[in-house]
Amino acid sequence: MLTAEQNERVTRTGPETPTGSLLRRYWQPAALVDELAGERPAVAVRLLGEDLVLYRDEGGGYALVGRRCPHRGADLAYGRLEDGGLRCPFHGWLFDGKGACLEQPAEPADSDFHTTIRHTAYPCVERNGIVFAYLGPGAPPPLPGMDCFVAPDSHSFAFKGLMEANWLQALEVGIDPAHASFLHRFFEDGDPAATYGRQFRDRTDGAEIPVTRLLREHTRPDIGVDPADHGFRITSRRDLGNQGTHVRITNLVFPNAICIPLSTDMVLTQWHVPIDDVTCYWYGLFTAFEQAVDKETMRAARLELYDLPDYRPKRGKHNNYGYDPAEQKTQTFTGMGMDINVHDNWAVESPGPIHDRTTETLGTTDKAIIANRRLLMQAIDAVAAGKAPAVTLDDVSGPVAVDTIATAGDWQAHWKQTDRARRDRSPWAKSEANK
Ligand code: FES
Ligand SMILES: [Fe+2]
Repeated sequence: MLTAEQNERVTRTGPETPTGSLLRRYWQPAALVDELAGERPAVAVRLLGEDLVLYRDEGGGYALVGRRCPHRGADLAYGRLEDGGLRCPFHGWLFDGKGACLEQPAEPADSDFHTTIRHTAYPCVERNGIVFAYLGPGAPPPLPGMDCFVAPDSHSFAFKGLMEANWLQALEVGIDPAHASFLHRFFEDGDPAATYGRQFRDRTDGAEIPVTRLLREHTRPDIGVDPADHGFRITSRRDLGNQGTHVRITNLVFPNAICIPLSTDMVLTQWHVPIDDVTCYWYGLFTAFEQAVDKETMRAARLELYDLPDYRPKRGKHNNYGYDPAEQKTQTFTGMGMDINVHDNWAVESPGPIHDRTTETLGTTDKAIIANRRLLMQAIDAVAAGKAPAVTLDDVSGPVAVDTIATAGDWQAHWKQTDRARRDRSPWAKSEANK
């Protein structure tokens, strides 16, 4: 439970807010590269409550600039991409990607007025299908050496989806290992071969038991939360009796991402990025260790579920998430279909646009949520006091995210070995994350 003041403090992310200032110290996903396909590579972006325009410049780099023209406020999302920048259609002022005003073609020819103009502009970098932006002060930190950034394009796939609620709600679903046994319960196990690239549909590494069955039959995980360079390692163990121990290693990548196993070979790193305080996007980088990713299958499966250009789920709040009471009796715990993103969206959105945490009642399963709030509030206070947050991602690698069954011996040694073996088979990964 939080006080009303604390809840306000951790949920508001606009410019100059304490949490907004913290999130701005880290690279944040701004758009998918896919959104810049087509003849005019520019897209309006709302990020952390700021209205911006992202475009690919003539040199192939990316620029993220303020959406309102500093002259008289016209909308630069309609700007002309030309002459090394973005030109406002109203009076022709031309801005480069660093915020300089290069030309004011209606001002007197000998005027140097343009040299006095600074437009909002943020550094950008593209990696594996996502354009990341740094909205903070000073020079941006390095992009971390995490698996999702190190993996080659052939082993990566990126997608995103809209959630109509505050960013912290979305993150707190992602770091809650108990909900998978309920929210994502399927009453029957599917064929893993037919559900490529989908969460919880593969078989757990080293066992014939489908993950869906494990989660369904073992509902009380023993949850461990251990501090790590990147935030927290979250361990959920399910005792399978004489079949061993199911071990699932997930991660909080501070301050607003998770890294979780998706299948035996694939890991999902997912950011929860505020659009504003009542909507957010999840951005996912799917990283495969061994097999190159079948991007077309991954993309086609998701395009069936989302409407572009907003990446709005086809099943959502607007149509009661497709809720079907008959299905809820016979097929799924939610009655909301087989796509777990729909289930998660319901869990994220149904407490309301900004969950009132003064009325909640946390239990044993909320360990990681409690630990994260403590870390988050400390980091917010540190940044507000002009200090560095306790967790920076500059030197972070990995993190390890596996789903496996330890049949004998030390379960801690087993998951580390599972990860090491996967890296040894991988054409690109290093084993350093295990050290
Ligand atoms: S409003 Fe943009 S150039 Fe005048
Ligand atoms: Fe979930």
